[in-house]
Amino acid sequence: MQPTLLRLEGNACTAVLEVAPGAAAVWRHLGSRLDALDLLAAWPGSELLSMPQGGMDAPSPPRLAPGHGNGLAQDGILRAHRDGLDAIHDWSVEAWSQPAVDSLSLQLGDLVAGLGLRVDLRLDAATDVLCVQAELHNRGATELQVDRLAGASIALPAELTEVSCPHGEWAGEFQWERRAVGADGWSRENRRGRSSHQAPPGLFVLGAHSCDDHGPAIGVQLAWSGNHRFALERHDDGRLLLQAGEWFAPGEVRLPPGARLRVPALYLALGQAGIGSASRGLHALTRREVLRWPGGKRRPRPVHLNTWEALYFRHDEAELRELASRAAELGVERFVLDDGWFEGRNDDRAALGDWWPDPVKYPHGLRGLADHVRSLGMEFGLWVEPEMVNPDSHLYREHPEWALGDARRPPVFGRHQLVLDLARPEVSRYLFDKLDALLRDAPISYLKWDMNRDLAQALDAHGRPGMHAQVLALYALLERLRDAHPQVEIESCASGGARADLGILRHTQRLWTSDNNDASSRIAIQSGALRLFPPELLGSHVGPAPAHATGRSQSIDLRCAVACFGHMGVEADVRAMSTDERDRLRGWIALYKQWRETIHDGEIDQGRSPSGARWWLASTPQRHFLCVFQPEAMPGSQSAALRLPRLRGSGRWRVHLLGRAGQLRQRAEQQSAWLRALAGPGVLADGHELAQCGLPLPALHPEAALVFGLERA
Ligand code: GLA
Repeated sequence: MQPTLLRLEGNACTAVLEVAPGAAAVWRHLGSRLDALDLLAAWPGSELLSMPQGGMDAPSPPRLAPGHGNGLAQDGILRAHRDGLDAIHDWSVEAWSQPAVDSLSLQLGDLVAGLGLRVDLRLDAATDVLCVQAELHNRGATELQVDRLAGASIALPAELTEVSCPHGEWAGEFQWERRAVGADGWSRENRRGRSSHQAPPGLFVLGAHSCDDHGPAIGVQLAWSGNHRFALERHDDGRLLLQAGEWFAPGEVRLPPGARLRVPALYLALGQAGIGSASRGLHALTRREVLRWPGGKRRPRPVHLNTWEALYFRHDEAELRELASRAAELGVERFVLDDGWFEGRNDDRAALGDWWPDPVKYPHGLRGLADHVRSLGMEFGLWVEPEMVNPDSHLYREHPEWALGDARRPPVFGRHQLVLDLARPEVSRYLFDKLDALLRDAPISYLKWDMNRDLAQALDAHGRPGMHAQVLALYALLERLRDAHPQVEIESCASGGARADLGILRHTQRLWTSDNNDASSRIAIQSGALRLFPPELLGSHVGPAPAHATGRSQSIDLRCAVACFGHMGVEADVRAMSTDERDRLRGWIALYKQWRETIHDGEIDQGRSPSGARWWLASTPQRHFLCVFQPEAMPGSQSAALRLPRLRGSGRWRVHLLGRAGQLRQRAEQQSAWLRALAGPGVLADGHELAQCGLPLPALHPEAALVFGLERA
């Protein structure tokens, strides 16, 4: 029987799969838009392949769901068995349906092994993001032990040959590393039990010459906050095949007869114009489909004051009230009380688990402070770390068995704490009750939900690995809390940015990007994070000088310029700042408020000029907001003009210099007429000029920044 071609149409992209009942589903195309399918329709995939010399007696086109153990060129999407049996798999199509032009649902099965697999594909027409969702079904009569499962294998466009992925560490998140994928392929596993600083679940696959604004690029994210595995394998025909799914510990997943296992959603943003275009696809999809804001709509993101680097564990209510008052004078809109407020929490060695206000520090509970904060016109937010327990806590003394661990071995601590087994209903109930009581007892409209260690010895009550169940239980707890308190916003924090992914963003509305508030470090960290996430989700704070994470000092203006291209906050004791610093901070906060809708609704471009300047641009139809940073010393005596390809053909703009940090090179100030015009009435420029000739910049010293606003003329 002639196979059927199923096609999904995006905006600039097309996906084509070939299906026939009882046969494998095969990739025929994924990439730029195809108008007609003459060749693909006339010639089934298998007829176009040569019999491999020295290989099996059947050519192997790239399958959507390759089986394991069949001599296929591709690695199987499933490693599973029934006590060693039924370990060979061969997926064939049982049925399909195409409910809309952009979506496709395939039912696959393996009658011999007693397995079913449903794969849903959608190519979002607005963003060119391919969403893959899959669910495995144990149709057999015995338990299935699952060692590995990816939702699908994706045959990527042939021109993509390199992989770029984020690495990092505490205070150094989102550092990207790029390499060519050789004949051996490439893979990466995260086994830390949280998305992690080291290997968060995202990557880009790129053409050899692709850069920020040029060339093919696919941005990939797996919506999961636990362990995962990404793999790129080189197919016989040279194409890269992508698989992504959870990483399971041995024995972790055992599916009883009839049970189903969902693979975390996988998103592939198909970009045609560089890494930036794929990032914008991911941003747009995140904004439209992943995030769920209280009230259904994002409000202007309020400026935070977070108490951590201001006061750490020193909670004195009078002092906190004073800090709040000073913060309000600067224009702060939300006051977030960080770690140290609950009973017995005087350092990081005790009290996690005891989620009620410390009667010594807060004899009348949190309401007094929260009311004070609200009387100043600010919202009140609170730090919690619900998944954790310190052995030195009431909770642990009462329920040592609630912690994940291997009772036969010495416990493995991280920051002196253990992880609670959230999959035990009584644990989640306890946490819900405690958080619910806090939210009822004081007017708290924001939680900073922290998670400060990796999972280790994560065994459940039966001694089996519990990391998969832990993530699902976390999502369920967050959901229950959101249902009970729909107006509360939640931030995902994990020792900085160690839990930043589209799984947690289904349940939260902000990511704490990094514990590193050093503005120079932050330029690189935020550039890296912006590849995956839109700026309104990235908490970025004006920290103290010297910065606590590095000991380096930067001017208040640089700290502000960096912080304002995100969800801005302040994390410093503003009482200790000089009057001049406070005035400048107030000015930058006001600037952020004037431009935040542009930054937070905007499409994001970023790049690096030949002079080493890093720039971030947020664009809406009427306004652009542009930050330019010179992190290191410039080579040469002239700054390269900043070319903004996005503005090509966009009409005419009035360009204003809104803010400055650091020093211009001495004689650059002599360009005074140009700078005066930019800082004063503004300068008129055509989009083509800005794209082609670029915006002339003065020569900058290291750690200088220039912030521009462009308004339609
Ligand atoms: C983590 C967070 C910080 C702060 C501390 C409090 O390190 O990333 O922002 O909340 O915990 O203990």
